[in-house]
Amino acid sequence: MKPLIAPSMLSANFCRLAEDIQMVNESEADFFHLDIMDGVFVQNLSFGLPIVKAIHSMAEKPLDVHLMIVEPQRYISDFKAAGAGMLTVHWEASTHLHRTIHQIKNEDMLAGVALNPHTPVAGLEDIIQDLDLVLIMSVNPGFGGQKFIERSLHRIESLREMILRNKANTLIEADGGIDQDTAGLVVKAGADILVAGNAVFKSPNPLETISLLKNTK
Ligand code: DX5
Ligand code: ZN
Repeated sequence: MKPLIAPSMLSANFCRLAEDIQMVNESEADFFHLDIMDGVFVQNLSFGLPIVKAIHSMAEKPLDVHLMIVEPQRYISDFKAAGAGMLTVHWEASTHLHRTIHQIKNEDMLAGVALNPHTPVAGLEDIIQDLDLVLIMSVNPGFGGQKFIERSLHRIESLREMILRNKANTLIEADGGIDQDTAGLVVKAGADILVAGNAVFKSPNPLETISLLKNTK
């Protein structure tokens, strides 16, 4: 099975956002990955609901929204209204994760949980069957263009074993430092979805880069 590809719009050119959205529409990518940062959960601010709405108005593929914010449960309906198809909250930002996941599903979105590089994968054992996706951060969240953390491969393998053991249908998403060198490694470890920001948008030929990632062996 080919991996699913989610270009991260954080690395797009915001002066030419429409062109970059159109490029993703015409590409072999499967989703738009949108990184929402609040300056509290991570030390960076990105963009919020108006930009998500604007992207949704042009996007021909589902929006995969990654919330790097505190109290994500307060904004579930807002992101649904803005056009999110998949909504991922951070484990570290969620005191009542089980409830939050079910609130996302009740809004007819796919529900995901993201883990920072230090958060034990084993903490998901009792909720894995409820999750549509788990996002493994393969860099520390907050910025595009960082170096892939090698240990993430072991984490993806452990998660894959957990999913099989629990007969869950959860997808594994790898996010951070994914390029043509690391894509094959994460796919081999068990990743289903590859997020790529810099690798796509700083490439001289983004369409071709997306196609190369899609055809990762
Ligand atoms: C980082 C974000 C990533 C980021 C990936 O906090 O979650 O989605 O945009 O960018 P690259 O692919 O450049 O590491
Ligand atoms: Zn992300």
